[in-house]
Amino acid sequence: MLILGVESSCDETASAVVRDGREVLSNVIASQHDLHAEYGGVVPEIASRAHVERIVPVVRRALREAGVTPGDLGAVAVGHRPGLIGALLVGVSAAKALAWSLGVPLVGVDHVEAHLYSGVMAAEGQAGAAYPALGLVVSGGHTSLYECRSPIDVRRLGGTIDDAVGEAYDKAAAILGLGHPGGPTVDRLAASGDDRAFDFPISRLGPDSLDFSFSGLKTAVLYAVRGVPVSGERHGGKAEFARDASALTDKQRADVCASFQRAAVAAVVLKLERALARPAPGGGRWKTLLVGGGVSANSRLRKELLALGGRRGVDVRLPPMGLCLDNAAMIAGLAFHRLAAGLADGLSLTASPFSAAAAP
Ligand code: KG4
Ligand code: ZN
Repeated sequence: MLILGVESSCDETASAVVRDGREVLSNVIASQHDLHAEYGGVVPEIASRAHVERIVPVVRRALREAGVTPGDLGAVAVGHRPGLIGALLVGVSAAKALAWSLGVPLVGVDHVEAHLYSGVMAAEGQAGAAYPALGLVVSGGHTSLYECRSPIDVRRLGGTIDDAVGEAYDKAAAILGLGHPGGPTVDRLAASGDDRAFDFPISRLGPDSLDFSFSGLKTAVLYAVRGVPVSGERHGGKAEFARDASALTDKQRADVCASFQRAAVAAVVLKLERALARPAPGGGRWKTLLVGGGVSANSRLRKELLALGGRRGVDVRLPPMGLCLDNAAMIAGLAFHRLAAGLADGLSLTASPFSAAAAP
């Protein structure tokens, strides 16, 4: 069965064709990073308008690159939650129109659950993942842990109480005067830095907590780069700093990146260790660690997660690089399982800013 996926939850307009939930025939991603760069973050209205302009050419290209015609499609899938509501509506409307005109089922997919599925769509010849699995989504909008009993039975165990880890990367990059989104740049600069140069905090929260916090790390980076403010927020005024990022040498900048990355990755691994030490749903052991989201492209995180899997005897499923960032292949892939479970949607499907993955 060929499924066309559509994704428009944030600042990527994407479409893909996937066969039987795993074989990616095309994966087209039109990024809007250039449109948002000057604002230092995603502007929702600009994102919605850009999706409207790009969605039809992107879908056409996904079909062309897959070498299929609309008549070959067995279903149309769309990421309909969570995300920017105006942006989601563009993809949902396009997917509805396409499904209705072709007379095929429409399948709404949760974007977070799709990220968790992206590592299962991996290399040719590799078997599907074993469940129960512990899930980790690390992106610009999410840093959360999930228990997964199947690709479509996903429940949230914990998440960030302030910034997402990708957001912390982007803010650290902004403090250092690097462009947006800064995660990939920080990752690259960290390679030539000393990761012990700065002793940045690794958040633990309570002893049993599976939540995350990255705001303290962000503030520590701010003070390391610009100095502790001489007058400031505490007095209701604007913080005044002794210096700015231009005072740093290239070596110092790389050291800040490496030290930040060590602390950020350690905070993620710490909570994974805690979760893996608990029994999996059903009382047995966790078989797999599913990872997804933009930060799963991070070199240090990938290395440390593979090491963690080795220590704990769990199969670690990292998405291939092309499936780390927002994409529609993961949407079309997961839709195959929803359809098989009889979970197709009607044309009354709505977009929602919230994720479906509830607490256990
Ligand atoms: O999943 P994604 O495309 O969008 C969201 O749903 O948020 O993730 C984007 C995030 C950005 O914060 C970006 O800086 C981060 O992923 N990112 C990285 C790397 N590549 C992308 N962060 C750290 N290291 C990377 N190599
Ligand atoms: Zn995402």
